Amino acid sequence: MNQDFQNIIQSELQSIKDKGLFKHEHIIESKQGREITVGGKKYLNFCSNNYLGFSGKKELALAGKKALDVWGFGLSSVRFICGTLKIHKDLEKKIAKFMGYQDAILYSSCYDANVGLFQTITTIEDALITDEFNHASLIDGMRLSKAERLIYKHSDMQDLEAKLKIAQAKRFSLIVTDGVFSMEGDIAKLKEICDLADKYKALVIMDDSHSTGILGKTGRGTHEFSGVKNRVDFITSTLGKALGGASGGFIVSNKMNIDFLRQRSRNYIFSNSLPPVITAVIDYVIGYISENLSPHKLLWENTRYFRAELAKAGFEISETEHPIIPIILGDASLAKNMAKALFKEGIYVVGFGYPVVPENQARIRVQISASHTKKDLNRAINAFTKIGKKMKVI
Ligand SMILES: Cc1ncc(COP(=O)(O)O)c(C=O)c1O
Repeated sequence: MNQDFQNIIQSELQSIKDKGLFKHEHIIESKQGREITVGGKKYLNFCSNNYLGFSGKKELALAGKKALDVWGFGLSSVRFICGTLKIHKDLEKKIAKFMGYQDAILYSSCYDANVGLFQTITTIEDALITDEFNHASLIDGMRLSKAERLIYKHSDMQDLEAKLKIAQAKRFSLIVTDGVFSMEGDIAKLKEICDLADKYKALVIMDDSHSTGILGKTGRGTHEFSGVKNRVDFITSTLGKALGGASGGFIVSNKMNIDFLRQRSRNYIFSNSLPPVITAVIDYVIGYISENLSPHKLLWENTRYFRAELAKAGFEISETEHPIIPIILGDASLAKNMAKALFKEGIYVVGFGYPVVPENQARIRVQISASHTKKDLNRAINAFTKIGKKMKVI
């Protein structure tokens, strides 16, 4: 290996460490769930996107085992050569119906869906108008497009309108937003976004990874929650959070748009199809949540209870109702130390600092699951209260 190259990598790594930004990975020795084992000790898990409690669930493993026997492990092919199974088409139909759209297209992840979308549907003549807090995968997807990018202040509708005015000279303007912002847990002002899109003849593209399966009366997502079904032109989302937590992603839109993506979206065309096991398990999950709202109900009961109890204990909790609950502490080392102290109490949460979140807004992000019991929630609330007092946060 070239020594100059190695010296540069070494100094970059050292600089990450010096800034206190080095990410350590805890090694989990059990399957995912409300309780996990790390270093031989059990912890209550409050930092996964396992919103509906499906990760690690027996029924999903059974559906996966069955699919392995019937469809095998993998297809050794991209979709258009010999990688399309009947279950891929069935799942696409099921996702489209669940989301309230004409058609859906599967990707290996939502990151992949975002990377495959913008470069395919835009040209140098267009403008992408994007919320400053949008997820990294949307940002990376937009970077591959030749369209001009205009960034508007987080959820600031005046700024969005100003950017729409600037973009009027362009062929098309596309407003790009997360449905729920992953570090804040706040919900996009989707109704206002759609109204502005109508006013300026713009398209709306939403990444709903933190809402699919959970937000809205029947868990369809932010479009259902905001009462704007049929007004969002493209929704991208993940199969790797509420819907079982493995991997996979999709885009929904009208049939013609999805037909076009199948012809032109490079990482759909030139990458292997979704593994049969995942395809079959997601089919099971979507079928289940289409008929059965009990995980959804449990998740929201748990979320409301946890939010209310933390606020009662003296923590400042945002108004938004979502199972992502950021506890803003400001100082990055305080967030890190508080997460460490909670870990010692058997509560697994993670502290986030700059550049993942804005400077001086370091936080601990709690994520609630339908699988948490009342006892789990109370244990976490007690630990937060004890450590919060000790660290003079409350
Ligand atoms: C808003 C958002 N979009 C996309 C992704 C990526 O999803 P996937 O894991 O399916 O690539 C994430 C994951 O963290 C996310 O939070």
